[in-house]
Amino acid sequence: MDTKILTTTDADLKIAADILKKGGNVIFPTETVYGLGGDAKSTSAVKNIFKAKGRPSDNPLIVHIGDMLQLSVIAKGISDKAKLVMENFWPGPLTIILKKRADIPYETTGGLNTVAVRMPSSAVARRLIELSGKPIAAPSANLSGKPSPTTAKHCIDDMSGRVDAIICGDDCEVGVESTVLDMSGTVPTVLRPGQVTVGQLEKVVGKVEVAASIKKGETPKSPGLKYKHYSPNADVIILSGDVDNVFKYVKKKSKTQKTGMLLFDELPKPEGTEYISLGSKKKPEDAAKRLFSALREMDDRGVEVIFAPEIPNTDSWSAVSNRLYRAAGETVVAVSDKLKILFVCTGNTCRSPMAEAIFNHIAKDKAEAESAGIYADGSSVSKNTATVLSEIGIDVTGKMSRQINRNMISSADLILTMSPAHKSVLSSLCGDKIYTINEFADVQGEVPDPFGGDVSVYRDCRDLIFDLVKKVAEKL
Ligand code: TXA
Ligand code: MG
Repeated sequence: MDTKILTTTDADLKIAADILKKGGNVIFPTETVYGLGGDAKSTSAVKNIFKAKGRPSDNPLIVHIGDMLQLSVIAKGISDKAKLVMENFWPGPLTIILKKRADIPYETTGGLNTVAVRMPSSAVARRLIELSGKPIAAPSANLSGKPSPTTAKHCIDDMSGRVDAIICGDDCEVGVESTVLDMSGTVPTVLRPGQVTVGQLEKVVGKVEVAASIKKGETPKSPGLKYKHYSPNADVIILSGDVDNVFKYVKKKSKTQKTGMLLFDELPKPEGTEYISLGSKKKPEDAAKRLFSALREMDDRGVEVIFAPEIPNTDSWSAVSNRLYRAAGETVVAVSDKLKILFVCTGNTCRSPMAEAIFNHIAKDKAEAESAGIYADGSSVSKNTATVLSEIGIDVTGKMSRQINRNMISSADLILTMSPAHKSVLSSLCGDKIYTINEFADVQGEVPDPFGGDVSVYRDCRDLIFDLVKKVAEKL
């Protein structure tokens, strides 16, 4: 497909509007990120949006409107509270989920009975919608899974040859996608944080909930939130810990990998690594504006792993923190001077969490222990494990199993497995820092799997591990 490259002149916007009227797809700037638009009521235009992005079809689109008349064609049953929110935040970076009207195609809303609607404030976006005379469905104009585009160049990089036209406007003012607020139920609920914060919304409508999906490990209500997102080609890892240790850590990593750091202006400039500042630590709006660009820029520089700072856990930083943690797939590495031990078993629900918890209970001054499994599926620690640990005053409620990965292996100083079988599976990845726990403790044998056994089997396992962990700690 030939992609027309257009400017924001009225003559070019008319060309773009004609394409939309004929059922084509046009990328256009908004104040948040660039959108990939099509007539919201045309099944084929919408199908082509999904195709161009490579987006899963159950992830619904946002319908962009230019005025309130268009709203009544799309949504129904709009509450007084919803109207109040619109009066206060539209036009602007807020999407509202409402009950949908029947003639919105199934494809636009991914089969849901609700529809996401936004009235953008960007002059170009508004003029385009006006000229087309249609509500425009538009997701962010990135290839599915990539960071959203905030400059015309990002759109050209991702989408040339996949859409009918790209309108090249200014860099986006906000830089992260709109806040998504579900107003189809009784309590307004934020499904995706954006520039409009919970605090600002609450001033207007009272109590606002935040969807559990934004918090860790829960099934999202906004279908888009369940997919890997915002990811550059490079791995993204968030580093927590004091600045000196973080810089030392990156320096060490830089010897074997091409690294990049995202920083704040207040931090010193690192050596031996690429870096990009997200602006001042005090300005979440600057970080929002720069984040996606910075992630893409790191890819352009050939960076293999991007280290990012921890983001404050506050309302005004929630949009940046949400995007960054999702780009990192929630990978946070706590950096410290302490030796790091990784205990490994099969499922990370019995033996290795016991070893981790016991180690951190009796020897945390010597090292920091973590644990992981070779075939872990994110389930909770087994009930009997929790019971026998609580008998010795250790609480592991809420602990989830973790699948071992390269980052865990590379950040560990010592890896101790429960059996020789675990060791042999991992040894090619772990160099000379892997032992069975018995080997390291100089005790014959291995730690048998208590899985499926009754509580007394777990008690024996705990006592055996306790003994081994004590010997490990003495040797460090
Ligand atoms: O700032 C923005 O919102 C940009 C610009 C182009 O307007 N658009 C954007 O669209 O970010 P997209 O498709 O990348 O994200 C839309 C989000 C997805 O997470 C989707 O699952 C959610 O909104 N969404 C859409 N319709 C929904 C619905 N009916 N119920 C719940 N979530 C919905
Ligand atoms: Mg998107």
